[in-house]
Amino acid sequence: MDPRLFKALKYGTPLLLVAFAAWLIWAPPARVGYAPEQPIAYRHDIHAGDPSKKTFDGRDQYGIDCRYCHTGVEVSKKAGVPSMNTCMNCHEIIGYGKAGVMKLRKYYEQKKPLDWVRVHNMPDHVRFPHAPHIKQLHKPGEHISRSCVPCHGEVAAMKVVTQVESLNMGFCVNCHRDYRNTVEYKHQGVNINCNTCHY
Ligand code: HEC
Ligand code: HEC
Ligand code: HEC
Ligand code: HEC
Ligand code: HEC
Repeated sequence: MDPRLFKALKYGTPLLLVAFAAWLIWAPPARVGYAPEQPIAYRHDIHAGDPSKKTFDGRDQYGIDCRYCHTGVEVSKKAGVPSMNTCMNCHEIIGYGKAGVMKLRKYYEQKKPLDWVRVHNMPDHVRFPHAPHIKQLHKPGEHISRSCVPCHGEVAAMKVVTQVESLNMGFCVNCHRDYRNTVEYKHQGVNINCNTCHY
């Protein structure tokens, strides 16, 4: 073998392996900024934004509680996405004539399913349950939407839902480590064993 090639392999291979391992753990934040177009231009800012403020384009905000639509978030693994019936509770009447609302009604009348495009997504080998997180992160007296911010950012101010955190393994483990080291959680089940998060 060419000695230069040998040298390159000898020193290059371990470097590549380390880089590969680092890449796996601190995975590229390719999904940060992901904001797919949805079948209906549903806006979180108008629906769930702080009613004492306006949207960036001067619209009223209605402050609907996150849990009205994401009913599972405090009680089960999945936060869940609302069915069309939930939308129609209001949109039988409200917003009649607006393009997005008329499109919604058309789906509803034709019984066409609304296939929302998934924004945040874990690989199959990862376990992520919402309920235990919200139970810990939702401080008494604080608005429910605050407890979503560490992982989803300020959804209540977004026109289009956008992923703002990498949600990679380092992101999850960092918070678990911080919590584990606080007195309040010293004896609780926040841990960083592989099988906490991996099946
Ligand atoms: C009136 C119903 C409604 C309310 C209230 C609501 N949402 Fe949503 N939410 C939706 C719908 C519909 C989608 C799917 C379409 C989309 O992504 O825009 C969604 C999507 C999301 C997603 C992205 C899900 C994914 O695919 O990864 C997050 C995160 C989210 N909502 C957080 C919140 C938070 C935080 C609040 C409260 C501040 C809230 N939502 C209030 C209806 C609602
Ligand atoms: C609790 C009542 C309520 C629910 C539930 C609700 N909306 Fe709305 N929605 C509103 C209000 C209020 C407005 C603002 C109407 C206006 O500005 O005249 C609105 C506006 C809209 C608009 C028009 C936005 C724009 O650009 O003007 C769309 C589209 C819409 N909603 C879709 C949905 C969808 C999809 C759902 C179900 C996931 C939903 N809404 C659930 C109350 C609701
Ligand atoms: C500790 C991080 C974390 C917090 C806090 C959090 N989420 Fe999530 N959320 C995620 C992850 C990770 C996913 C993707 C889950 C998957 O693919 O299995 C997700 C997915 C979702 C989805 C998509 C549908 C579903 O059920 O998977 C919605 C909607 C959602 N979150 C809403 C919320 C709301 C509302 C709050 C606050 C009340 C919240 N989340 C708090 C991490 C979080
Ligand atoms: C903002 C801090 C924070 C972030 C970010 C976070 N976690 Fe957690 N996680 C916690 C806390 C606090 C608990 C402890 C809950 C308890 O004691 O019931 C926990 C518990 C868990 C549990 C055990 C739940 C059970 O069954 O009791 C799993 C699994 C988990 N987290 C997965 C994840 C994954 C996967 C991510 C990244 C997508 C993540 N966490 C990000 C704070 C966080
Ligand atoms: C707090 C939750 C959490 C803990 C604890 C955790 N992981 Fe992960 N791990 C994740 C998440 C989330 C991902 C997915 C990252 C992504 O998709 O960007 C992941 C991805 C991985 C991957 C990459 C697989 C792929 O799809 O690229 C490997 C390998 C891995 N974990 C091994 C481990 C090992 C070994 C341990 C124990 C030392 C561990 N994990 C502990 C949350 C965790």
